[in-house]
Amino acid sequence: MNEDDDRFRDAIRAAREAPPPPRNGHAGGDGNGRKSGNGVVIECREVVKAFSGHTVLDGVSASIPRGEITVIMGPSGTGKSVLLRHIVGLLLPDSGDVIVEGMSVPKLNEDELLELRRNIGMLFQDGALFSSMNLYDNVAFPLRQHTKKSEKEIREVVMDRLKEVGLAGSEKKMPGELSGGMRKRAGFARALVMEPKILLFDEPDSGLDPVRTALLCDLIKEIQRKYQSTAVVISHDIKAVFEIADDIVLLHGGKVVEQGPKEQLKKSDNQFTAQFLQGAVSGPLGMD
Ligand SMILES: Nc1ncnc2c1ncn2[C@@H]1O[C@H](COP(=O)(O)OP(=O)(O)OP(=O)(O)O)[C@@H](O)[C@H]1O
Ligand SMILES: [Mg+2]
Repeated sequence: MNEDDDRFRDAIRAAREAPPPPRNGHAGGDGNGRKSGNGVVIECREVVKAFSGHTVLDGVSASIPRGEITVIMGPSGTGKSVLLRHIVGLLLPDSGDVIVEGMSVPKLNEDELLELRRNIGMLFQDGALFSSMNLYDNVAFPLRQHTKKSEKEIREVVMDRLKEVGLAGSEKKMPGELSGGMRKRAGFARALVMEPKILLFDEPDSGLDPVRTALLCDLIKEIQRKYQSTAVVISHDIKAVFEIADDIVLLHGGKVVEQGPKEQLKKSDNQFTAQFLQGAVSGPLGMD
């Protein structure tokens, strides 16, 4: 355990104790940030996407319930990141539809897309920090781009978010000076500055050791609770998935094999689901 881990722990404790920020026009939850009531936040309807003739998504239909943490799982290369990029309109489906808060994302114009992205916090698989900016400027970036806040106001938000992820004191560091885990958490802080209602995390836990993965899972749960957000998390880590997921969407072969509450999938008699969730070598899933 080092100082960095201690700060991370303190940050989680603080996030747990802090009252949720006021939120305009957001459907309230039950006080624990769970089950806000009115249904589905993101819906993928028969989404088909091919790259150079190679079909990656072959009619994906999935629903993401409000105020919960949904984990998308599936073998590497199965299209999990591609699916997430459809939700923010970075990719458009060849056919089918992606509905976010009742709006068809492929039909949005540039301004509407910007507005949508303002309400979505996205952590990309590689953290996607700007390598030429220090940590502070990286986290401040969405606020400078999307809001008219003064530098003083921006500073308050940025320092709060950095504290939340246990990176207070590191704000002058460049991404190249950070460990992989720190870069993930910095990406996390940046995803949170706009206080988004929807959080999309692409493998926040990859490349982390088990202790840091557990801490990060705690942080995801606490942040989701605090902001009463709807979270979609892509993860390969079965232990982490069982820890944080309310619901699981299992992707394979361009389709959703199964989706539903975690407890339901744990008991599933679908061979693929069973093999995947148990990480077993024998079963329908090979290395192809
Ligand atoms: N912009 C793109 N252009 C061409 N092909 C792409 C593009 N984005 C993704 N692909 C292809 O789509 C497939 C699915 O990629 P994706 O990154 O979604 O996989 P993944 O499920 O996230 O895998 P991993 O678990 O390894 O991150 C891969 O074959 C990838 O090469
Ligand atoms: Mg991916």
